[in-house]
Amino acid sequence: MSTPVEQIKDRLNIVDFIAGYLKLEKTGINYKGRCPFHNEKTPSFFVSPSRQTYHCFGCHRGGDIFSFLQEIEGLDFPEALNRLAEQAGVTVKKINPREVNEKEKIFKILAVATEYFITALDRHQPARDYLLGRGLSTETIKIWRLGFAPAGWQNLTEHLKAKGFSAAELVQAGLALTSQPNANNPHGRLYDRFRHRLIFPLADGQGRIVGFSGRIFDSPATQPVEEAKYINSPATLVYDKSRILYGFDRAKDALRRSGTAILVEGQMDLLLSHQVGLTNTVATSGTALSQGHLEIISRLAHKLIMAFDADPAGEAAARKAVDLALGQGLEVNIARLPAGADPADLILKDPAKWQQEIQASKHVVDFYLASLMAREKDRRLLGRAIRQEVYPYIKQLAYHIDRAHFIAKIADMLNLPETEIWSDYHEASSPTPSSPPPAEPAPTRDRSSKIIERLFGLIWLWSEQAKKSPAVYLEKFKKMFTAENWEQEKTAHESRREQIIMPLEMEYTDSSAGRLADEIDILLTELAIESLKADLVQTRQALAQAEKAGRDDDLDKLVKKCQTITQNINKLKS
Ligand code: UTP
Ligand code: MN
Repeated sequence: MSTPVEQIKDRLNIVDFIAGYLKLEKTGINYKGRCPFHNEKTPSFFVSPSRQTYHCFGCHRGGDIFSFLQEIEGLDFPEALNRLAEQAGVTVKKINPREVNEKEKIFKILAVATEYFITALDRHQPARDYLLGRGLSTETIKIWRLGFAPAGWQNLTEHLKAKGFSAAELVQAGLALTSQPNANNPHGRLYDRFRHRLIFPLADGQGRIVGFSGRIFDSPATQPVEEAKYINSPATLVYDKSRILYGFDRAKDALRRSGTAILVEGQMDLLLSHQVGLTNTVATSGTALSQGHLEIISRLAHKLIMAFDADPAGEAAARKAVDLALGQGLEVNIARLPAGADPADLILKDPAKWQQEIQASKHVVDFYLASLMAREKDRRLLGRAIRQEVYPYIKQLAYHIDRAHFIAKIADMLNLPETEIWSDYHEASSPTPSSPPPAEPAPTRDRSSKIIERLFGLIWLWSEQAKKSPAVYLEKFKKMFTAENWEQEKTAHESRREQIIMPLEMEYTDSSAGRLADEIDILLTELAIESLKADLVQTRQALAQAEKAGRDDDLDKLVKKCQTITQNINKLKS
């Protein structure tokens, strides 16, 4: 029997499905349209009905109906599977039906509680006035379903009980707590978690309420000062604070369109940022930025703009977040806030200011370089500070070209030749000070792996179109690896076969075997050159070591070897 995934793919047509999101136009055997994942004027997004896949030549996103839905709606795989299964009329066995039922119950009780808080806010003018005074519009209050938990111990508890929910359910949903048992109440008494607080409902990616954040509502008579400014729902079956981003459900579209996420800390910051039109803003709620948050963000965006509080404490706290984000492969920009102000304060004072700060945000490396420049006037000390504080970020950048850009910039700042900065950088980032500096092996490796991937794709395409494999080329290709490496490469690439072959198929629609052969031939030569270049780098390193150690015999041999390799490279090039 086929799997649910296969059944879904059989029943749903990717062309129709994607056409529900964007305008597609037929071109040859495929369809094309403007990519929904990045901004573009001319269509470079292709859908293949025969393969049931899509590929964008602009942003290189591609995949099947599942990855499309995941990406466009910001869902994880199980969520996408459920949605598509429903559409296709395929039943997916629920992993744990009891847990699913419990979750549904919690969603229900949270929805009822949300309505309760909204009604309570309607009836409490001082709370409404407070929110309006903070700069929120009535529209914002409405669409974000803001509410109010009245003073008193059992308002919500009584309301929910009257609606038929049990004590256990209230506790499970994180809405109520149980007091210590005593003589009068052997099981303890149930009381509201949120009392006399402004309520910010927290939603999951699909807009379902999963919990609440409650802000203290000033009234000295009923609230002792020591109470936390914000309290949040505890972890429940549906609320995991390290995977929920406040505002994500309403930010998805803007995240996708702009490819950029603006990250703020608080609920008020988020609401005002959305209100002034920055609808790609998300917030962590009562917790530090986590890996989980970043995974969710990077499904839709490739760049993250963070606002730093100008004080050193704010900067230090943000460093960890920056590290995490870079580690996730996101591009990171930093916006500088005036000391002591948060985005909400800034927007209340001057709505345009926050947008300007975001516009003026700088790449994280530029940001640190500028702040060191301002701090350190002595050039020599500036160099050391850069080495310590900025190299680690440069090292984490995803692209070599970006590294090169910043190294050039630093050279400029310090008035030193670029080569000096490169060797200083390598020295600083090599694990042991005595080991020879790695001579940038990354670029040639990157290039080789790109060639290898393309070669696999072209050879497969050839086999599919000619119904037989191009034996001569395949042999030549295989010979460039050890037997073991070949198997490894093959398996690794085969697991991504569709992704690799689809864009190539778009390029070679007219299936002219001649052109395919030409390119395969050229790529095989280029691959051989890359591999010789890597040899050359290694031999040169060995040479440097032999020189240092004064091993003259080796020196001679190595010099000859370098010459031979260079000759071979030149031969291949011509
Ligand atoms: P802040 O203390 O900066 O509050 O906490 P804020 O956002 O400026 O609040 P307003 O503007 O006075 O209303 C930033 C965020 O940290 C979380 C909340 O999510 C808050 O928005 N927080 C703060 C808590 O979870 N608990 C707290 O006790 C305080
Ligand atoms: Mn604030």
